[in-house]
Amino acid sequence: VPAQDLAGRRVVVSAGGTREPLDPVRFLGNRSSGKQGIAIAEAARARGAAVTLVAANLEVAEPAGCDIRRVSTAMELREAVADAAAGADVVVMAAAVADYRPASVSEAKLKKEPGDGGLTLELVRNPDILAELGHAPHDGTLLVGFAAETEPDGARLLELGRAKRAAKGADLLVVNRVGWNEGFAGDDNAVVVIDRHGEVVASAEGSKLSVAHAMLDVIVAQLADAPDR
Ligand code: C5P
Repeated sequence: VPAQDLAGRRVVVSAGGTREPLDPVRFLGNRSSGKQGIAIAEAARARGAAVTLVAANLEVAEPAGCDIRRVSTAMELREAVADAAAGADVVVMAAAVADYRPASVSEAKLKKEPGDGGLTLELVRNPDILAELGHAPHDGTLLVGFAAETEPDGARLLELGRAKRAAKGADLLVVNRVGWNEGFAGDDNAVVVIDRHGEVVASAEGSKLSVAHAMLDVIVAQLADAPDR
């Protein structure tokens, strides 16, 4: 049994990837499996937290012992996270949220026309859920974001992470490199965690569960540093 260092804490985790419908049978999605977010939820639960998991189209089994809110689109995820975040000690935005959604959703299945040569989709921006939380007063709630980047250069990857943390107003940002075979579908991950000062406060590599525990070590330390949280 791990140390119960999150006992009495309420932790919200979003996980998975949103799907933005085009018509009744099609959607725009992404390759997020939800594994890292689920590992964070499981690890937080094991350390004594009350965990709400906002689950977007998970490709793996839901963890036991968590309050699960199933959503599909970015707008649904936004509502569920905003609802769960009120009064939470920690919000971890591990979900891959679509930046854009189709400007309109067709009631009927879209059909190709003979000789149409192609189809242009009009997309509109989705709200940035993490930035909305980060730019609103959130005293007492530690906000943790993710940055999944394909940037191969380590120094440049860190710069992207620092800029993203600041832009979104997150307290901590977890940077991981993703590619066709890294980050999303696999069972392992490699991350660095950046704090408000842009300092690297942890780096972890291994199973998604061990990476989750390393992240929670940082979160527990930050909660202890700010007793008002
Ligand atoms: O900007 P980017 O998508 O790289 O940022 C990733 C972080 O922002 C993740 O924590 C993700 O959950 C969050 N995000 C969000 N709303 C969006 C897009 C990303 O909360 N529309």
